[in-house]
Amino acid sequence: MSVAAASKIGEYSYRQFNVQDQNEFHSISSLISNHLSEPYSIYVYWYFLNNWPQYSFVVMDESRLIGVVISKVEPHREVRSRGYIGMLVIDPEYRNKGLASGLVKLTIEKMQQDNVDEIMLETEVINQGALNLYESFGFLRAKRLYRYYLNTHDAFRLILPLSDKSHTRIAFLDPIADE
Ligand SMILES: CC(C)(COP(=O)(O)OP(=O)(O)OC[C@H]1O[C@@H](n2cnc3c(N)ncnc32)[C@H](O)[C@@H]1OP(=O)(O)O)[C@@H](O)C(=O)NCCC(=O)NCCS
Repeated sequence: MSVAAASKIGEYSYRQFNVQDQNEFHSISSLISNHLSEPYSIYVYWYFLNNWPQYSFVVMDESRLIGVVISKVEPHREVRSRGYIGMLVIDPEYRNKGLASGLVKLTIEKMQQDNVDEIMLETEVINQGALNLYESFGFLRAKRLYRYYLNTHDAFRLILPLSDKSHTRIAFLDPIADE
């Protein structure tokens, strides 16, 4: 699946978030606030979408926005490039069609192209759907975070290693060079 061009799964098209389009931002924000258990401030999405639009993808049913994944990439402890998947939501009417897998696949491919060393995320320990989805891509459970969410649920921190740096001790890694 090429990241630059829009790609399709069945009748649904995927593409990078359009940072110029205010309506798209509002559709994303209502999808997230209606269907994610954790209440996020609008500034959180804006921070991700505005700074890293290249790591956010949407899936459309014609003009209706039916799914989104929002991510960022930053240095981790100055030695690794770490991707972080912040939010992933599919409209309930469109679940179980492989759409979330398509969005996660696009995200992983884009981060691989950009030489990201690992991808991290958190999900509720009771979110079996999300755990199955991410573990099918090779994400590993790295930590259990006690009462991590406002609803008091625990989280698993999941990590997908993409390069050897991800599983090399920090003491043996050189700092990332400034660009
Ligand atoms: C989790 C979520 C993103 C999955 O979206 P989806 O488009 O239905 O997922 P897909 O159809 O791509 O499913 C891919 C795989 O995920 C797993 N999966 C998805 N939903 C599942 C469920 N309800 N129960 C068990 N496994 C599930 C399966 O392994 C599935 O592969 P399979 O179809 O070969 O069995 C969607 O249910 C959602 O938006 N939930 C609310 C928000 C959320 O929990 N986001 C993740 C938080 S990090």
